[in-house]
Amino acid sequence: MAKLIEAALFDLDGVIAFTDRYHYLGWKRLADDEGWDFDETLNHQLRGVSRMESLQVILDHNGVELPEDKKKQLTDRKNGYYQKLLEDINEDDLYPGALEFVAALRERDVKTALASGSRNAMTVVNSLRLEGFFDAFVTGHDLDRSKPDPQIFELSAERLGVPAERCVVFEDAESGIEAGLAAGMYCVGVGEAELLPNAEQTFTKYADIDVDALIETGRIKR
Ligand code: BG6
Ligand code: MG
Repeated sequence: MAKLIEAALFDLDGVIAFTDRYHYLGWKRLADDEGWDFDETLNHQLRGVSRMESLQVILDHNGVELPEDKKKQLTDRKNGYYQKLLEDINEDDLYPGALEFVAALRERDVKTALASGSRNAMTVVNSLRLEGFFDAFVTGHDLDRSKPDPQIFELSAERLGVPAERCVVFEDAESGIEAGLAAGMYCVGVGEAELLPNAEQTFTKYADIDVDALIETGRIKR
């Protein structure tokens, strides 16, 4: 079997675990506190986007301008809500089939990295016992630029020692697909195709992926 793909880089929130739901609930609670409009459609634009940039999207949508210190207080409050929700996560929060898929790649000697812009990523990793599934971890603490900047995937590939053209990225965010493409990597969108207009290929069930086709061609189906 000719092996094109040597590494697979996975986003966390919305790709390995349904923690994207808890980010949404954290922002929703903050928006309700403040009397701002916020719904799942607007939330979709926050996928992959950093904490402060997410707040800015919500403020812009509501036509609200605030000083920096107030914005910091608000993002801290959202983070507190999010961290509280993380206290109760368990294996039911895992995306079905995700870890089995990661394991199938590793059995075929494909290296794996977890590449999350979240500064809470390692809390999720520890709670869901994900440590053994990935050869490298890159989180928001390692980065000075957030998605759509390619830094997160470039650093992941560097840590794995694999060139970009041999990497495939799994992402549920438009900003994440943009980052993966900018890094010169194969990209797979996790979710409905309509929600990921810049993803060339998408899926909703890990079990539908042809693992060998992916490794040979960078595509999830032959
Ligand atoms: C990304 C999420 O993984 O992490 C975003 O998709 C989130 O919704 C971002 O804003 C930053 O997360 P945190 O935990 O550092 O606020
Ligand atoms: Mg995500």
